[in-house]
Amino acid sequence: MDLRGFIKRCEEIGELKRITVEVDWNLEISHISKLNEEGCGPALLFENVKGYSSPVLTGAFGTPRRLSIAMGMSETYSMCDLSKEWMKFSLGKVIPAQEVSTGPVLENIDTAAAVNLEKFPVPKFYPLDGGRYIGTAVFLIIKDPDSGKENLGTYRMQMLDNQRCGVQILPGKRGERIMKKYKKMGQKMPAAAVIGCDPLLFMAGALQQEGVSQYDVVSTIRGEPTEYIISDFTGLPIPATAEIVLEGEIDPNNLQPEGPFGEYTGYYTDEIGKEIKKPCLEVKRVLHRDNAVLWATSVGRPVTDMHMLLAFTRNASLWTDLEHMRIPGIQSVYIPPESAGRFWAIASVTQSYPGHSAQVANAIIASTTGSYGIKGVIVVDDDIKADDIGRVLWAMSVRYDPLRDTEIIKRGRSTPLDPALDPNSSKLITSRILIDATTPYEWENKPVEITMDKEMLTKVQSRWQEYGF
Ligand SMILES: Cc1cc2nc3c(=O)[nH]c(=O)nc-3n(C[C@H](O)[C@H](O)[C@H](O)COP(=O)(O)O)c2cc1C
Repeated sequence: MDLRGFIKRCEEIGELKRITVEVDWNLEISHISKLNEEGCGPALLFENVKGYSSPVLTGAFGTPRRLSIAMGMSETYSMCDLSKEWMKFSLGKVIPAQEVSTGPVLENIDTAAAVNLEKFPVPKFYPLDGGRYIGTAVFLIIKDPDSGKENLGTYRMQMLDNQRCGVQILPGKRGERIMKKYKKMGQKMPAAAVIGCDPLLFMAGALQQEGVSQYDVVSTIRGEPTEYIISDFTGLPIPATAEIVLEGEIDPNNLQPEGPFGEYTGYYTDEIGKEIKKPCLEVKRVLHRDNAVLWATSVGRPVTDMHMLLAFTRNASLWTDLEHMRIPGIQSVYIPPESAGRFWAIASVTQSYPGHSAQVANAIIASTTGSYGIKGVIVVDDDIKADDIGRVLWAMSVRYDPLRDTEIIKRGRSTPLDPALDPNSSKLITSRILIDATTPYEWENKPVEITMDKEMLTKVQSRWQEYGF
């Protein structure tokens, strides 16, 4: 599947609307998209952007139905069940990605002075944003100089001018660790930004799983090899059916002002009024398909498709982490999109020994995904599914005793984008809360829960219409 296949499938089942009236890239596209997403509307393809002939796609992942399409499912799964499917696939036999010699991404090749990022209908999202953002549904391909392995990472990208993009690679990310290696070697880092491709590949760019090829992960989930071309310019593997690829290099010593940008937390971070410098992609060559689709996510306060995507990918990788850790009894795991897709995690467990539920909470915090930015974990018994928020609140009301069942952890890795952290601190460390909302396994006399009489229940159900309902 490429982005066009995804668009086609969405349109066939009424999950995509084409907007044919003229719209402005300056705030109008983003504001239409935000309002549309707040009403759980379809994905939008803006075909008539003022001053441009190529389209913009937004809202691709706004509903579990569209996430299911992206995953290749014939029916609609809940986000929790979709994450489980991803987890199951990714633990299966690895299908390697495949190198090919050509693909539609090579339909247009702009080099040197012909490179002009302004040829694409790049949106500006919010009034206080520092400029137009070309990379919201984007990932950057770089290569670890030690292992020779590629790394895909999604980092927001501002169009600084028609040949340069500011790239927000946050501290501690693999992207940053790799960039530091180039800095140490005194070299510029070759990089390629991909905008528009197989939706799963974009999701994989947000995965934090260490030591796996994201191309292979997508191939394994798709059940067929993802095709890539080795660029004769950067030597990097580029998706053969990508819409737009910006190839160039990042000089680790040349940081440029980037931002502000209205983030997925619903806030600007600490950038308003301050000049904050970030890595800069100097674009030397642009590859794009004919009539390239510029894919953008919505941003701002939850819930937008960005939160659906973040919650889904983080949930899938958290669940995969827990399976790798061989924690028994886990029934479901859920990171709610409403938690900005990343700050809270809920797990449901079948307890088999005293302390089992606490082990699950600790494992979540210790996992690769959970150790980054999760502020709260709630564990519930297996009669409650992790995404059944009403029941989770019920468990927190009737099974949870704050003094007995709460652990506060003082220091853990945070995201500097968290507006709850002291703006005068480094914003790299957060505290965490672990809430055990299960009934303690070791209690001999457990509270007796009300259940209905089975025989009467069957009888009532069979007479339901007779009662006049
Ligand atoms: C839509 C979207 C936007 C993101 N923006 C950023 C960003 O601007 N900077 C960043 O460091 N991480 C961002 N992330 C999270 C990273 O993609 C994620 O942490 C990923 O694992 C980074 O890759 P790396 O660990 O290989 O560096 C974003 C994720 C998504 C889904």
